[in-house]
Amino acid sequence: MSKIVVIVSGKGGVGKSTVAFNIAYEATKLLSADVILISADPAKSLEFLTDIDDSSEKVNGWFEYINREDLEIEDVLIRTPYERLFVVCSSVEDLIAAQTPEEARGPLEKLLYFKKTLESNPRIGLVIVDTPGSITKSHYYYARLFRPILVTAPTSLELRGARELLKLNEHLEGEHRITKAIVNKAISKREIEKVEKSLNLEIIASISSSQEIEDACNQRKPVSLIAPKSRAARELQEAARAVIMLCSGQLEPKGKPRVRESFLSSISRRLYSIFGGVAGE
Ligand SMILES: Nc1ncnc2c1ncn2[C@@H]1O[C@H](COP(=O)(O)OP(=O)(O)OP(=O)(O)O)[C@@H](O)[C@H]1O
Ligand SMILES: [Mg+2]
Repeated sequence: MSKIVVIVSGKGGVGKSTVAFNIAYEATKLLSADVILISADPAKSLEFLTDIDDSSEKVNGWFEYINREDLEIEDVLIRTPYERLFVVCSSVEDLIAAQTPEEARGPLEKLLYFKKTLESNPRIGLVIVDTPGSITKSHYYYARLFRPILVTAPTSLELRGARELLKLNEHLEGEHRITKAIVNKAISKREIEKVEKSLNLEIIASISSSQEIEDACNQRKPVSLIAPKSRAARELQEAARAVIMLCSGQLEPKGKPRVRESFLSSISRRLYSIFGGVAGE
């Protein structure tokens, strides 16, 4: 199963980079392997949020890696201030410039090679690709190779953009088709339901609009470091769990094991009380 997800949206400013960064940070605490953020956005939001030195010689990221045989994956990973969280900077100009499937074949093959390298490396637990603000061809190409998750805010404008993107991707099959969404900047349950109805996608997580998230972004820090007890931090942790589960199917959503455990232990207590011994032992 693929451990690479690509965060897409139909409109800019919905919170893709914020969500990608915070989910990646939370994932480092849930997984024992490394987590990689691929910045596919020329606006370099992830480079800003993760506070990395974007004048580093590694700025050409996967493109360098693909074109030079002497490089190992470690050579393009940029360390962040956070343990086991790395950034790969990637230029997508080749993909954006490609006007025809023929022209795109070369860059796509290279991207596919990069994907295989990441997926076969046991040191890497999760890879999250952040894409640019407006719908570009790169969305389309990334979605053809990686598992897409749509991030949207619940306003009509953003939903319209999301529907346009869905239309572009509707012919894609299997895990490359957009079927999952994260609702960001929601202020009520009703808004989340509105998104679900309007887009007909499975909502795997929702994150409220909150001052803590804005503050954390301005301070270039993960929300759970700035406001660990906030609702926003909790929601982002849940979102990280949902993404990991989507990729590996191994991590149960929070709460589920507890529910199952208590359900099973109540059954075993009951059986024990029926077939012998003292109930509750
Ligand atoms: N849940 C939230 N609550 C409050 N503010 C938020 C939330 N999520 C994101 N923001 C703010 O919204 C703004 C846009 O976020 P971000 O840059 O992550 O969006 P984006 O979708 O990556 O944008 P672009 O399309 O330009 O790449 C930022 O100022 C960020 O702090
Ligand atoms: Mg962004």
